[in-house]
Amino acid sequence: MLEKVKELLQEVANFVPKSEKETEEFRLNFLGKKGEMNALFAAFKTVPNESKKEFGQAINTLKQNAQAKVDEYKGSFETEEKGEEIDLSRPVSLDNLGSRHPISLVRNQIVDIFNRIGFTVSEGPEIEDDWHNFSALNLPEEHPARDMQDTFFIQTNPDVLLRTHTSSVQVRYMEGNQPPIRTLSPGRVYRNEAISARAHCIFHQVEGLYIDENVSFADLKQALLYFAKEMFGEKTKIRLRPSYFPFTEPSAEVDVSCNICNSKGCNVCKYTGYLEILGCGMVDLNVLENCGIDSKKYTGYAFGMGIERIAMLKYGVKDLRLFFENDVRFLKQFDKSI
Ligand code: DAH
Repeated sequence: MLEKVKELLQEVANFVPKSEKETEEFRLNFLGKKGEMNALFAAFKTVPNESKKEFGQAINTLKQNAQAKVDEYKGSFETEEKGEEIDLSRPVSLDNLGSRHPISLVRNQIVDIFNRIGFTVSEGPEIEDDWHNFSALNLPEEHPARDMQDTFFIQTNPDVLLRTHTSSVQVRYMEGNQPPIRTLSPGRVYRNEAISARAHCIFHQVEGLYIDENVSFADLKQALLYFAKEMFGEKTKIRLRPSYFPFTEPSAEVDVSCNICNSKGCNVCKYTGYLEILGCGMVDLNVLENCGIDSKKYTGYAFGMGIERIAMLKYGVKDLRLFFENDVRFLKQFDKSI
């Protein structure tokens, strides 16, 4: 009898289950109602008195060992049973992350380029008043140049409007800060325009403003040349054409050499070799005075550009509406490019 217990002890010690099922079979076989243990306890009665102690100790050890085996393995095969075997050597499958919108990418790039020459970002409200969007910028009421930008007014209060350009932020910034001023204002703007491949009622601009003593047109040209080279490549040239904006005098429009045809002429640059990218000029003295800056002491330059326009030129996107449709097949193409 004792021999049998010793054999069973060995069997328990050697037992290594491969599944939950095998563990359960083992449990039933040893600890179940009709299992080995109950049979041994029943047989205990027939053991002669002098062997009872030894036999009793042996079957108690057997029971404890069998129970310990069951406790060790029970529940440890759960994932396998569900068919979800974990293979730690498998390569991770990366979550499908979204990508940044091309307009955000280009905005960040513009900010980064001007950051490097000391410009910091300032922001203003999209719902503006007449003063900040027009009057302070040398566009008094009834000024014909107001028609250059079709405005969305709030019907009940014509003094409140959706800003038509980020130039409104330069007014706010000058009202709150004295020179030296070097600020960049990116943001969303609104115009009452029919939506087409080249125009939208919502788009984005970046406004730049630099005011200090002795700021000259040469400083403006140099900053813009630096920007064009950083944005479109080292070989890029710029060209300034005289223009008119009420808030700058003199004013200019800036073109960059067409990097698609190397200025030889193609249908993107309409065979001119150049592409228009922004408007700029020396801040009009009236604007400085309107914003509380001494125009006898300080001068400055300003520029404004459309982010969609820069993105279209940089990436060869022909239809502006694509930026607003949020088709992930379009948006996905840009995340690795910057
Ligand atoms: N605000 C002008 C526009 O929306 C762009 C612009 C032109 C801004 C010349 C300027 C500037 O600061 O000097 O068309």
